[in-house]
Amino acid sequence: MSKLSVAIIFGGFSSEYEVSLVSGSSVIRNTPTDQYDITMLGITRDGRWLRYTGPVELIAEDKWADSAYTTPAFISPDRSHHGLVVLSDGGYEIIRLDAVFPVLHGKNGEDGTIQGLLEIAGIPYVGCDPLSSAMCMDKAVTHTILEDAGIPQAKWSTVFQRDCGDFDSLEAQLAEKLGYPMFVKPANAGSSVGISKAKSKADLKAALELAFQHDKKVVVEEFIDGAEVESAVLGNDDTLVSVLGEIVPCNEFYDYEAKYQNAATELHIPARIDEATTALIRETAAKAYRALGCSGLTRIDFFVKRDGSGVILNEPNTIPGFTSISMYPKLMGATGVSYSELIDRLFTLAIQKA
Ligand SMILES: Nc1ncnc2c1ncn2[C@@H]1O[C@H](COP(=O)(O)OP(=O)(O)O)[C@@H](O)[C@H]1O
Ligand SMILES: [Mg+2]
Repeated sequence: MSKLSVAIIFGGFSSEYEVSLVSGSSVIRNTPTDQYDITMLGITRDGRWLRYTGPVELIAEDKWADSAYTTPAFISPDRSHHGLVVLSDGGYEIIRLDAVFPVLHGKNGEDGTIQGLLEIAGIPYVGCDPLSSAMCMDKAVTHTILEDAGIPQAKWSTVFQRDCGDFDSLEAQLAEKLGYPMFVKPANAGSSVGISKAKSKADLKAALELAFQHDKKVVVEEFIDGAEVESAVLGNDDTLVSVLGEIVPCNEFYDYEAKYQNAATELHIPARIDEATTALIRETAAKAYRALGCSGLTRIDFFVKRDGSGVILNEPNTIPGFTSISMYPKLMGATGVSYSELIDRLFTLAIQKA
């Protein structure tokens, strides 16, 4: 059988550019080369698209873009091209693609935008479709859909920047509905960027200001005192929900530093929770996956409340971290799907869906 031609996209015009470099290199390294011909496509921090032909190491070190191994290239929306247009010497070359894996986190990668381009291009791609990606990216929309599906979540309020004129009355409303501490999050971000825990009125003001640097829409949530438990879901109509994993952040909450820069954060696979709670989370994850219209993959994160009063869905991640130490591939590994088998299954699901 001839090999499939696939593009793996990394980087991105997003606050999660660096994370994507590490996830992307890991996906490239683990894609079985006996079955797949890989084209590496990088998007720089400022949004330039470059085909990359150099060593994989330079990607994670963020030295790929300025190397001699790049050529301007872009996915063509023209369905007859069905692939990548690579510009060179005043002309161009087309690399036909059977599928694309956009290993891009956050804005312009996980929010349905690149998925929309791939839909127009008619190229199968790994992960959720544009609507589902957008719904899972926007924390306010996710809350609304999950509420409609009857899935337990933290109490929340959506705050628009334009409505923040009277801070005192806004604060009074939030304090009454949610109580302190509160979690303040840009509606569309990721990797904990722009998120803070506000313990007082003064904190809340600063937290809103920070969150509004990332989005005009902010979600404020009640604080949930719980263990952080994550599930990996794989599939289109039929889904596999993984063994669960637990994260014990080394900081007060699982912020950017605890996620990527601090080895003291602990991971436990399986999560240290009883069988009934495990079953409830796995069932809720499958239900949320369907309600949000997910396909391909999504990591769905929960809190298990410390007072024993149940589980709360925190958030879905449609392109979860894919580094060798990331939860999604680890959970799949613990469920019997090795990293390279996982990538093979993701490409197969992408092609089946298209
Ligand atoms: N309502 C909440 N109660 C308690 N902790 C929270 C709450 N919301 C978020 N957190 C903490 O903040 C982290 C990041 O929030 P999350 O909503 O997962 O954003 P991101 O999309 O950036 O990962 C969580 O992993 C958790 O540690
Ligand atoms: Mg999260």
